Amino acid sequence: MPQPIKRHPSLQPLSRDHHFGLLLCFKIREGFRRKVEPERIKRYTDWFWKLYLVPHFELEEKYVFPILGADDPRVLQAIDEHRRLRQLFESTDEISVTLSRIEEELEQHIRFEERVLFNAIQEVATPNQLATCEEHHKMPEVTEVWKDEFWLD
Ligand SMILES: [Fe+2]
Ligand SMILES: [Fe+2]
Repeated sequence: MPQPIKRHPSLQPLSRDHHFGLLLCFKIREGFRRKVEPERIKRYTDWFWKLYLVPHFELEEKYVFPILGADDPRVLQAIDEHRRLRQLFESTDEISVTLSRIEEELEQHIRFEERVLFNAIQEVATPNQLATCEEHHKMPEVTEVWKDEFWLD
């Protein structure tokens, strides 16, 4: 049995974002399974990208990854995956292919952060560094809710 990951409380808001990221991957898969038009799925992934993932990636790059240092191979891998995911989310061609890459690569990226990177980070982080990560985490205003729930169609 895999051990449940003990996440430091200051990193829990980021782990919660990861949970929503995995849900996004699930919704893309459901969309495909239900033969939802790719454009309709893409409208949702565009919204989710801007509202949740852009700030999440920025916070990780600015406050979380530097804890391990810019030369750490795991940090380099994560930054590379962010670059790749940015390209995918911002791409407007071959929507169906791009969505299925997002589904695959975002899930892998999140699993890597949860299973490897965040554990390494919380091992070496100072209480101050952890507090800074927590302070800068802002949940988007929840006034905006996505109404087109294609994954329930
Ligand atoms: Fe990340
Ligand atoms: Fe992340």
